[in-house]
Amino acid sequence: MRTIKVNLDKKTRSSYEIRIGKDIIDRMALIIAKNHKAERYVVITDDCVGSLYGKKFLAGLEDVGLNVNLIEFPAGEASKNISTVLDIAGKLLKSGADRETLLIALGGGVVGDVTGFIASVFMRSVPYLQIPTTLVAQVDSSIGGKTAVDLPHGKNLLGTFYQPCAVFTDLSFLETLPEKEFNNGLSEIIKYGIIDDEKMFHTMENNMEAIKSKDPKIVLNIVEACCRIKKSIVEIDEKDQGLRHILNFGHTLGHALETMSQYTITHGEGVALGMIAAARLSEKMGYLESNEAKRIEALIRDAGLHWKIPETFSADNIIAALRMDKKKKGDMVRFVLLKKIGMPFIIGSIKPEMITAVIEEMKE
Ligand SMILES: NC(=O)c1ccc[n+]([C@@H]2O[C@H](COP(=O)([O-])OP(=O)(O)OC[C@H]3O[C@@H](n4cnc5c(N)ncnc54)[C@H](O)[C@@H]3O)[C@@H](O)[C@H]2O)c1
Repeated sequence: MRTIKVNLDKKTRSSYEIRIGKDIIDRMALIIAKNHKAERYVVITDDCVGSLYGKKFLAGLEDVGLNVNLIEFPAGEASKNISTVLDIAGKLLKSGADRETLLIALGGGVVGDVTGFIASVFMRSVPYLQIPTTLVAQVDSSIGGKTAVDLPHGKNLLGTFYQPCAVFTDLSFLETLPEKEFNNGLSEIIKYGIIDDEKMFHTMENNMEAIKSKDPKIVLNIVEACCRIKKSIVEIDEKDQGLRHILNFGHTLGHALETMSQYTITHGEGVALGMIAAARLSEKMGYLESNEAKRIEALIRDAGLHWKIPETFSADNIIAALRMDKKKKGDMVRFVLLKKIGMPFIIGSIKPEMITAVIEEMKE
């Protein structure tokens, strides 16, 4: 098992460890019993992860003598809302949960975000653990303490910053993950290489087949590298005031395309397109060398992700959707561009004509 320490504010004692390994469920239970003592544990999961792993996970915790309950909600983004929160809070009260209770998020980013949000407000806060089961959650959402639910007006509009007390990442969960979900994570992994680690980017260029076939050794090294990047960014900018924005590389345009397609373009596919667009914009504006932009595009194509924008999408509509993005500052749409692979920067103004030109170039 590999361990990464996330060093946060000493006064609030919010530092924690991320443990990463394969087939670590049994050891996880022992560590929870020893290091995260509580009167009662409530595992929160969705019905898909619950049916795959709920029983086994609960049995593992009971075997080490813990008092455990399980709460499930329907899988998917549609559940990431305040009525799920109210429903779970009611079930927590019914099960006897109080301030001595520890919540355990077992699932993907939706379960992690919902559980973290509840943990931050239930009885004015209770501790929680993250046990991420998707690649997105393992390399991204389980680390950093951003919790949220969606509002009808948009995603993640109601949320808190509230750090977990530990993260346990077991790569064996990935064995049952559908390809579409794995690809969402693949996009995020490529993003980490582009924004922070040229060496990891190069490893991905040489090993994409092994990564896609979930080769345990290479996946372990890459997941660990991504967690180290995320943790070092979160350590500097826990509350998303500056540096953390670079994690949005490819996401501004990605979100716009995802929304416009009414989610037929997945999050990962949108981000992949957004990363190609950001690389091309960086090249057009004279920041990035052409061969680096080409390497980015080639890696995304090798990963089997989208690299063309649908013909029917108009550039004007895409730009209008960008202006709706909640990450904009005033009227300016913030973009993360590149000077080199591994060297991103944030830019507040890009001429719409420049964005239009890139969109037109990228059409099918
Ligand atoms: N808090 C953050 O910093 C942060 C960062 C990135 C994304 N997010 C959020 O994360 C969410 C997306 O997370 P996600 O991509 O993990 O989606 P998800 O949680 O919806 O999971 C995707 C699907 O995979 C299923 N699943 C999960 N683990 C499985 C496994 N091991 N085997 C088989 N099926 C499994 C789930 O039941 C679900 O149907 C979004 O709501 C996004 O806003 C948050």
